[in-house]
Amino acid sequence: MSRKLLVTNALPYANGDIHLGHLVGYIQADIWVRFQRMRGHSVHYVCADDTHGTPVMLRAEKEGLTPEQLIERVHGEHLRDFTAFGVAFDNYHSTHSVENRFYAEDIYGKLKSGGLIDTRSIEQYYDPVKEMFLPDRFIKGECPKCGAADQYGDNCEACGAAYAPTELKNPYSAVSGAKPVLKTSEHYFFRLSDERAVAFLREWTRGTNAAGERRLQAEAANKMKEWLGEEGENKLSDWDISRDAPYFGFEIPGAPGKYFYVWLDAPIGYLASFRNLAAKRAAAGEHIAVEDYTDASRAAAAGTEMVHFIGKDILYFHALFWPAMLKFAGYATPSRLCVNGFLTVDGAKMSKSRGTFITAHSYIAQKLNPEWLRYYFAGKSNGTMEDVDLNLDDMIAKVNSDLVGKFVNIASRCAGFIGKRFDGRLGEADAAACAEFATAWAEGRVANAYEERDYGRALREIMRLADLANQYVNDHKPWELAKQEGQEARLHAVCSTALTMFRDLTRYLKPVLPALAAQVEAFLAIPAMDWQGDWAPLPAGHAIQAYSHLMTRVERKQ
Ligand code: 2FM
Ligand code: ZN
Repeated sequence: MSRKLLVTNALPYANGDIHLGHLVGYIQADIWVRFQRMRGHSVHYVCADDTHGTPVMLRAEKEGLTPEQLIERVHGEHLRDFTAFGVAFDNYHSTHSVENRFYAEDIYGKLKSGGLIDTRSIEQYYDPVKEMFLPDRFIKGECPKCGAADQYGDNCEACGAAYAPTELKNPYSAVSGAKPVLKTSEHYFFRLSDERAVAFLREWTRGTNAAGERRLQAEAANKMKEWLGEEGENKLSDWDISRDAPYFGFEIPGAPGKYFYVWLDAPIGYLASFRNLAAKRAAAGEHIAVEDYTDASRAAAAGTEMVHFIGKDILYFHALFWPAMLKFAGYATPSRLCVNGFLTVDGAKMSKSRGTFITAHSYIAQKLNPEWLRYYFAGKSNGTMEDVDLNLDDMIAKVNSDLVGKFVNIASRCAGFIGKRFDGRLGEADAAACAEFATAWAEGRVANAYEERDYGRALREIMRLADLANQYVNDHKPWELAKQEGQEARLHAVCSTALTMFRDLTRYLKPVLPALAAQVEAFLAIPAMDWQGDWAPLPAGHAIQAYSHLMTRVERKQ
């Protein structure tokens, strides 16, 4: 049965560059989307910029821009970077959009009618010069534990202590330098502590989705248990969803001067981007039944799935607030969260001072092949929340030995003979020699690994097959057959067999290396490869194109 998937990636903030750390999760999602499509499933893959909040507002001011100007520029930069890395969203929208306002107001209105919105007064630090409330990260001072200077309002980078901003000694505003004062204002809360919400979240955590899969990876489910506590316990606190003006965001209906906190409308941006996609498609005459994905009862009837790829730092938002918001507004809840770990470089956190903070754009500007990174990240992904480590020597070795040494090498050793000696036409492939390939296909070994997002396992199986293909070429030595009298037929069969194996390997690698796969499809003169049907060799008599080199080695100096 064909699946109907809505797949999303976390929305990057509109006040920073895309870096290699971001790309781990985007590449993982893009691979999964490409795989699902090759399987014949329907996938809508959307993302957007996360545009609201104080940091965007202040950053724009610093650059002498309006927030709208800043987010428009960054939107272009982000889309450019994703495109360069082959992360091919169907739509890249913005949370500062009419669709997002619509959904934010609708969801908020329904939560309010459901008795899940409360107001209460809270006291917070306020910058009297800038005349604004200060988010924790815009308050600095001395650590209450160790006394280190210039620490942020929520935790100390020197001793690791966590505290409330009011505990800082000699606090000052990072915006104006002024001494902050405590000021009271009314805030809006989503009542996550409501027993309905708690009961629902327990159920949602434990259950399986329409496809019969766990909604959460084991580690994420454990985190949830920790947050939810024991049966009968209620550890959840209500969530503050409003911020006072000045704020860049959507004003809360019926609450002048109060804005939705950026994290309220950020995940709603998934739906907004999807709705915007549907509008674009409608203009082109194609219908997407948006409510089949967003409306709880229609989604259940239509069997649609909503799958979110996120980093582990934002699990809390996606596993607690987001499903609860959707549930109590009558919206379809997420089918699945696919949570990835952080990127480390040489085993340590990326760092600007160590020069290991690499932006997507600088990678591209160095003329490095984006598919090298896709391949490397894929090899390190196993479907868990474990961190992924980037080690440049390891990456160079992997790309050179696997992709250039094993994979490309098969075609480069055989294709020339087909062109020169057989007028570009393939002969009969030796099906017996391909037995292991046919079995791997029939058993779906690589497919199962992709499905489980264990791309490392998929690549290991692919490279095992690549070793077999190279062994076959080494055993039959086409370059020697080519020099011998009366070995034409043998030469033809050997090269055609090896190219069939090469076709298989490319098909398996296609979700990870879409650009390389497209080059191979052109070279083999075959239609876009998918993941359906029975295994069959390339047919005898089929004409291929002249071979041109597919991928170069990475050099250390690059
Ligand atoms: O952590 C972040 O980078 C957020 N901008 C992610 C938002 S994901 C979704 F909820 F929008
Ligand atoms: Zn400290």
